[in-house]
Amino acid sequence: MNRLLFVASEAYPLIKTGGLADVAGSLPEVLRQQGMDVRLLLPAYQHVLESIEPPALVAEMTLDGVPLRILSTRLPGTQTQTWLLEHPLFSQRPGNPYHDPHGKPWSDNADRFALLSRLAAAIATGQAGLDWRPDVLHCNDWHTGLAIALTHLHESRPRTVFTVHSLAHMGLFDRATFERLHLPEHFWRDNALEFYNQCSFIKGGLVYADFITTVSPTYAGEICESPGGMGLEGLLSQRRERLVGILNGIDSQVWDPSSDPRLEQRYGPDSLADKALNKVALQASLGLAAVDDRPLVGLVGRLVEQKGLELILPVLEQMLACPVQLVVLGTGEPRYEQRLKAIAAAHPKAMAVVLAYDETLAHRIEAAADIFLMPSLFEPCGLNQLYSLRYGTLPLVRAVGGLADTVVDSTAAALADGSATGFVFQRPDAGELLAALRRAVALWYDQQRWQQVQRNAMAQDFSWQQSAIRYLQLYNATVQT
Ligand code: ADP
Ligand code: GLC
Repeated sequence: MNRLLFVASEAYPLIKTGGLADVAGSLPEVLRQQGMDVRLLLPAYQHVLESIEPPALVAEMTLDGVPLRILSTRLPGTQTQTWLLEHPLFSQRPGNPYHDPHGKPWSDNADRFALLSRLAAAIATGQAGLDWRPDVLHCNDWHTGLAIALTHLHESRPRTVFTVHSLAHMGLFDRATFERLHLPEHFWRDNALEFYNQCSFIKGGLVYADFITTVSPTYAGEICESPGGMGLEGLLSQRRERLVGILNGIDSQVWDPSSDPRLEQRYGPDSLADKALNKVALQASLGLAAVDDRPLVGLVGRLVEQKGLELILPVLEQMLACPVQLVVLGTGEPRYEQRLKAIAAAHPKAMAVVLAYDETLAHRIEAAADIFLMPSLFEPCGLNQLYSLRYGTLPLVRAVGGLADTVVDSTAAALADGSATGFVFQRPDAGELLAALRRAVALWYDQQRWQQVQRNAMAQDFSWQQSAIRYLQLYNATVQT
């Protein structure tokens, strides 16, 4: 059980739109360090090819009549050998991997990710003519779910693990697309890929994988029930004994306030006063008032319903009056972007909104803010609250998915026993969010206790080591099945 093919549609730092890239950019490397012979397989997006040294050619082949090439590179900053699927569907497509410039899914996404899946399945079943073949095929999210189903068309197939980073995207395509892809007719069944008269790529992973994992224990439970299962709860609860929640880790080198090169001022748990210099610098760079009499709240993420925008917007003015300053960095649905911008324009000294994807600013906000806002409606794991804990920026979260598993509310008891690391509210209710923020602001004025909670937070260990061992155990368990 030593050779692993890990397949994803994005991996940091080559291509990233969200947390999946953070996971695919760090977990394979940790598994490699723990002794596995790993290949990471990604599409060779135009942006990827432009950002790396010329890669080596591994193979040239024709898959179901489609000519393609496999190129090889190392994932920057790691020793992970990375194979890139080169085909014009990826290499001649600038911009976002999934969407056109208007935010609409590329119309040929089914063909694009079916091709990625076909290649993964061909490598995994020894049909790609390579001299390397995995013992375990580990696929992630809907883009690669079909690969696992396709391995079942072969007698000799590796063990398979499918990780759900989010059920919200199921890779749904119509019957005509299913036919165009020449998928076997028996896949068009309820106990295969068919889902309410559509073809669902994610079901390829959920139905056929030896083990399904998801990225937190709480989310593993939530998706076996309605509404968390989004219609797939029946299938998932049937496979409950094959479904495991393994919490994501973080790349503790990329996200380390004591060595982060992107920060104005580095700091650690014993030099918390230095953290404040990051706040001063951020206030100046974003045109916020240079005040130190109120906490700065940060929000970094996709501006979509999942992230709790419907809870924030109705009470945003009341939040500012708590009082706090607020910095938002993100891109997403135009209706949220516009409303946030409009409120910020009315309070330029108290609120700044940056509608961009900006890694450096994301790190600077993590370092500068006092409180990190993440009131998600659902959250399979969430990485930003983990970065926030490491940066001593106390997360304010809703008790859902991975947020419930990683943040401990600052109740009187948790403050007393030293377990408090942030602020947690229960129901998806704007009033509850506001009440939690008021509690956070009140504690901020008690700097001695606040700093104790910051130190509790910074002492949490969410590095990959423990979680990677859980994956190794699971790979070994696939043999016994
Ligand atoms: P999700 O994957 O649901 O978007 P996560 O919390 O798991 O949520 O991961 C989000 C990742 O994407 C984090 O690394 C976060 O810093 C990053 N991110 C999201 N939006 C932006 C942005 N506008 N600029 C920079 N980084 C961002
Ligand atoms: C998804 C989820 C997020 C998770 C990430 C990485 O994008 O929305 O909660 O942290 O995947 O697993």
